Amino acid sequence: MPSKDKLILALDVNDPEYALELVDRFSEWVNVFKVGLELFTSAGPDIVRRINERGKKVFLDLKFHDIPNTVAKTAVVITRLGVAMFNLHASGGMEMMKRTKEVVVETALRENLPRPKILAVTVLTSISQDEFKKEMGYQHSIRTHVKHLASMAYRAGLDGVVASGHEVSTIRNNIGDNFLIVTPGIRPKWVPPDDQKRTMTPSEAIHNGADYIVVGRAVLGQEDPEKAIELISLEILSA
Ligand code: C5P
Repeated sequence: MPSKDKLILALDVNDPEYALELVDRFSEWVNVFKVGLELFTSAGPDIVRRINERGKKVFLDLKFHDIPNTVAKTAVVITRLGVAMFNLHASGGMEMMKRTKEVVVETALRENLPRPKILAVTVLTSISQDEFKKEMGYQHSIRTHVKHLASMAYRAGLDGVVASGHEVSTIRNNIGDNFLIVTPGIRPKWVPPDDQKRTMTPSEAIHNGADYIVVGRAVLGQEDPEKAIELISLEILSA
């Protein structure tokens, strides 16, 4: 598979015109662009249409965590917006995930729309094992927790999960190949971790079984972003 189909670029900026400039600049290397909280809050839903008009796909990363009725009704709006994938927190519960999947399938069928893929966020890549135990009070490991949340998402009928590279092989072994794994927290050897704690290099994440890797600062935070994305694309290919 070409590296273009494995790499998601996070448009973590607040100016829609600049975001679209980035889409044009990196379209040679990237097919799916991630719109997160910062860009969506400043640019609104129109940014999704404008990226789609350029023939590119959108991963809407708003990480819904709310009651089933609220998330499901929002998912209907998202389906009409035309995103390729969006996400919610698995810790929002089984009923929330199931209801969301149901309404997305119904809406897409009834209105003859493509059905967006639904991913469940497991444990954020910015949380360390130490914080997970000492601050958040969990007695088991992050790996055990992620495995449990991913299994819930699978049973709810979701398409996949967002998980750090450290848990990818556990999820693959437990659930199998027919389940998408999207991995953020990606840091090539030449990039500092910033606020991310459970990081992995592009080749390690792909080697462990990630379908997509998400890169933000490893490209946009570099002095020469084109060079950075080229190196990352080569690293994916060699994995
Ligand atoms: O700059 P960096 O590559 O660390 O950015 C990672 C991107 O992936 C950010 O947009 C962040 O919101 C997102 N993300 C994450 N961890 C998750 C889910 C999404 O870092 N579990």
